[in-house]
Amino acid sequence: TYIVTDNCIKCKYMDCVEVCPVDCFYEGENMLVIHPDECIDCGVCEPECPAEAIKPDTESGLDKWLEINTKYASVWPNITEKRDPPPDAKEFDGEEGKYEKYFS
Ligand code: SF4
Ligand code: F3S
Repeated sequence: TYIVTDNCIKCKYMDCVEVCPVDCFYEGENMLVIHPDECIDCGVCEPECPAEAIKPDTESGLDKWLEINTKYASVWPNITEKRDPPPDAKEFDGEEGKYEKYFS
């Protein structure tokens, strides 16, 4: 499966939802997650994310993010259409420790 990681937080560009063939993105206030059981591993969303926040879960060190995607995909609502990203998205792109500071 693919998963959404830290740098999505407060960037939330939403280009990913437009390309997913199975609509498996779920929306929190500050970020999106992927439902790991619904993702068919097609990989098309990964290069679409301007924040490079989407990664295959086979990459090392992403256990925490797999847990977060799994947990919140079952409580947050599904999102299938891109909206405008936050106006200050660029200011947060690449900031360290966004999970600790802003996750919601
Ligand atoms: Fe959707 Fe494919 Fe991305 Fe999985 S890898 S979230 S199926 S676009
Ligand atoms: Fe987040 Fe990237 Fe999608 S910033 S909302 S994973 S396009």
